[in-house]
Amino acid sequence: MVSRETDPSPPSRVRTAGDVAAADPSFDDHTTPLARAAEHTVMARSGARTRPSVPRPERTRVMVVANQKGGVGKTTTTVNVAAALAQLGQRVLVVDLDPQGNASTALGVAHHRGVPSTYESVVEGLPLAEVTTECPDLPGLWVVPGTIDLAGAEIELVSVVAREGRLHRAIHGHPRVGGPDAGDERFDYVLVDCPPSLGLLTLNALVSGGEMMIPIQAEYYALEGLGQLLETVEMVRAHLNPRLIVSTILVTMYDGRTRLAAGVAEEVREHFGDQVLKTTIPRSVRVSEAPSYGQTVMTYDPGSPGALCYLEAAREIASKGAPTR
Ligand SMILES: Nc1ncnc2c1ncn2[C@@H]1O[C@H](COP(=O)(O)OP(=O)(O)O)[C@@H](O)[C@H]1O
Ligand SMILES: [Mg+2]
Repeated sequence: MVSRETDPSPPSRVRTAGDVAAADPSFDDHTTPLARAAEHTVMARSGARTRPSVPRPERTRVMVVANQKGGVGKTTTTVNVAAALAQLGQRVLVVDLDPQGNASTALGVAHHRGVPSTYESVVEGLPLAEVTTECPDLPGLWVVPGTIDLAGAEIELVSVVAREGRLHRAIHGHPRVGGPDAGDERFDYVLVDCPPSLGLLTLNALVSGGEMMIPIQAEYYALEGLGQLLETVEMVRAHLNPRLIVSTILVTMYDGRTRLAAGVAEEVREHFGDQVLKTTIPRSVRVSEAPSYGQTVMTYDPGSPGALCYLEAAREIASKGAPTR
């Protein structure tokens, strides 16, 4: 049982912002965490992609960011991992599947009613390429906005043919999604931000992707509801998408000062092992205020601990590569 008492020495297996900054081998021996933060700030401001870039996958990795709990960091993780991957030289598409359109807000793209969005593609069958727009702040990052129309999609899709496979068809019909045939401009990653439910939209996402990323908030109730999520994944694997793998678990909003957070992170690691990224995302005000400026923390405050940890998480995802089946 974990308590909320303050503990100045979290378990060594949990990597914090300071460790991340200190341990990056790509920086000179003399580089301090502060210098590293400054360097990422300068590179992000000047529009340069952060060095060193990571190898591109051989084919587009479609990663579904899902957890039916609200407020666990799905959207924050989607947009910041996407932005970080773009800064690492990858071509990334974010598909906003949440009627609230929070990912669209954070990426600085319009998502009011009437903007061509995921809805038009999934429900009305418009090619995804026609509703894809470029993110204004970051080269290499594209977005399919999510509008309030998606709220109706859960019900409208019920009567549609092949209703679980609509997003799969849309994504894989995009000319920039696929293997070497899709050309040099192909997307390396497609990240799908799911709404906080296990309805038809999330089901569409789970059918569309080969990988799933689950953000887990380092809070007391974090693991509650996870069983139901994993049962849904098993159901999807058995009937709709045998390729689906939970490849990535990311512990978010980690407060290194509490035993509670360390305890949750530990429990998640015991349960999921290698699927859990070594990097945890700290709770940070800069992360939560970035969307109100229409930005990710990766451009809003690139030197902040939240940004450096998302950069490291993205690097881990890229260097682990797609799961082998
Ligand atoms: N690392 C973090 N530090 C501080 N606040 C965070 C962090 N990650 C997420 N938040 C905040 O928590 C809230 C829920 O996050 P969000 O990504 O919208 O969750 P979800 O998409 O799962 O509902 C938002 O207000 C967000 O700004
Ligand atoms: Mg969200």
